[in-house]
Amino acid sequence: MNICCIGAGYVGGPTMAMIALKAPDITVTVVDMNAGRIAAWNSDTLPIYEPGLDDVVKKCRGRNLFFSTAVKETIKAADLIFVAVNTPTKTYGVGAGRAADLRFIESVARTIAEVADTPKIIVEKSTIPVKTAETIKDILSANGNGQGLTHQVLSNPEFLAEGTAIADLLSPDRVLIGGEKTPGGDLAVKTLVDVYARWVPRERIITTNLWSSELSKLVANAFLAQRISSINSISALCEATGADVDEVANAIGKDSRIGAKFLKASVGFGGSCFQKDILNLVYLSQHFGLPEVADYWEHVVRMNDWQKKRFSVKIVRNLFNSVAEKRIAVLGFAFKKDTNDTRESAAITVVRDLLSEQARVVVYDPKVAADEIEKDVLGQGVDDPRLSVASSAYDACVGAHAIVVVTEWDEFKTLDFKKIYSSMPKPAFVFDGRNILPLAELKEIGFRVYAIGK
Ligand code: UDX
Ligand code: UDX
Repeated sequence: MNICCIGAGYVGGPTMAMIALKAPDITVTVVDMNAGRIAAWNSDTLPIYEPGLDDVVKKCRGRNLFFSTAVKETIKAADLIFVAVNTPTKTYGVGAGRAADLRFIESVARTIAEVADTPKIIVEKSTIPVKTAETIKDILSANGNGQGLTHQVLSNPEFLAEGTAIADLLSPDRVLIGGEKTPGGDLAVKTLVDVYARWVPRERIITTNLWSSELSKLVANAFLAQRISSINSISALCEATGADVDEVANAIGKDSRIGAKFLKASVGFGGSCFQKDILNLVYLSQHFGLPEVADYWEHVVRMNDWQKKRFSVKIVRNLFNSVAEKRIAVLGFAFKKDTNDTRESAAITVVRDLLSEQARVVVYDPKVAADEIEKDVLGQGVDDPRLSVASSAYDACVGAHAIVVVTEWDEFKTLDFKKIYSSMPKPAFVFDGRNILPLAELKEIGFRVYAIGK
């Protein structure tokens, strides 16, 4: 069997590497129109940082895992085609700021229709609005190359989280496969089930109709994000009342009906999925004439925006209402630890807010490149002398009035804070946006310490 995956990103790359590892008899080729990215996948420095990924790629690359820019040839030779291209939120026209921009999905469907000369099984991996499979089918059947081929479209949403992608792929809570309830659809579903069944216990592979599968992905992310917004809303109440948000989260998380996960209060959730998927759900609800449903979910995003703002405001207030010309060290820039992905990271908002207050901001992140940080905050090619990037946490903190922790990287927990304290003007402040630092110890040293929900 030949598998082709279109899109060599955070989703396509690790997922295909795992399939190649577990199915040595299947040839897996990942294609991307971005030649630089493909070159990086073929080099010693992979384009994405993900713990454990290097090992998996090293084992399979050149054996049954290939990275290539030959999109059309690879599609032609494939039996199964995964689509893992990005589906950003539309920035223009109808649905701007909410609806998903499906132009990449559409262009991929057109390419498949143009080059396929055998029937294909097309698997949606990208998160997409409900009923996208229908769009893909429509384009395929209207653009066949005259050979009357019938392709099948499946939905197989990705539930891996960045930073733990390899572990998530190795032993997923579930694999979800949606297909049409027709003989052809059933056969296609079975083909994909057989790929995953090589390493995933059969009872964890769920099959549903297409729309249930597509919708489940949006709903899973909406529920996860809702938990974070819920606990973040309570963090503000904790600060006002003297309750401690970690104690509250622990107490309620012990209730097995609630559960302990995704109750960590923070400066706000980021990542390429949560906000985008909720906004998609909002758009979908509006489209189907359900404004109450739309409003309900939209508030999860609004609470998150507010939490990010609340954190920047807290910094400015405590620094005697002015950060102008003060050096502020921002530790962490990725949207969470163990990834170099910065999409929708709370750090972007916090750094921009501080710059707009005329602070001099020095960012340090163990995995995010300096030019990425500058591009995310200022925009491509824009320069601002107030923003700089340090190559260590210590360098960032020297001379800083405040340390602001935005990402929960483990290395921040064990910094030599005595040494850092002595290099800072006084009073020296710490704002822990992730509740990871030893606050009592820091106070002991002399820091003025602020955390979330404490
Ligand atoms: C993407 C989507 O963002 C997300 O909605 C979905 O859940 C999974 O796929 P990710 O892998 O993180 O997630 O995206 P990204 O890292 O941007 O990778 C997408 C890749 O597709 C890029 O490398 C891009 O160059 C490539 N691409 C895009 C193509 O090869 N062809 C296209 O037409 C469009
Ligand atoms: C998410 C989903 O978890 C995954 O199933 C889906 O396939 C893609 O979207 P991801 O965006 O990679 O994965 O990261 P996730 O671990 O879910 O974290 C999202 C954001 O929430 C991060 O900014 C994280 O720091 C934040 N978060 C998470 C909290 O603030 N508190 C928590 O308790 C958990």
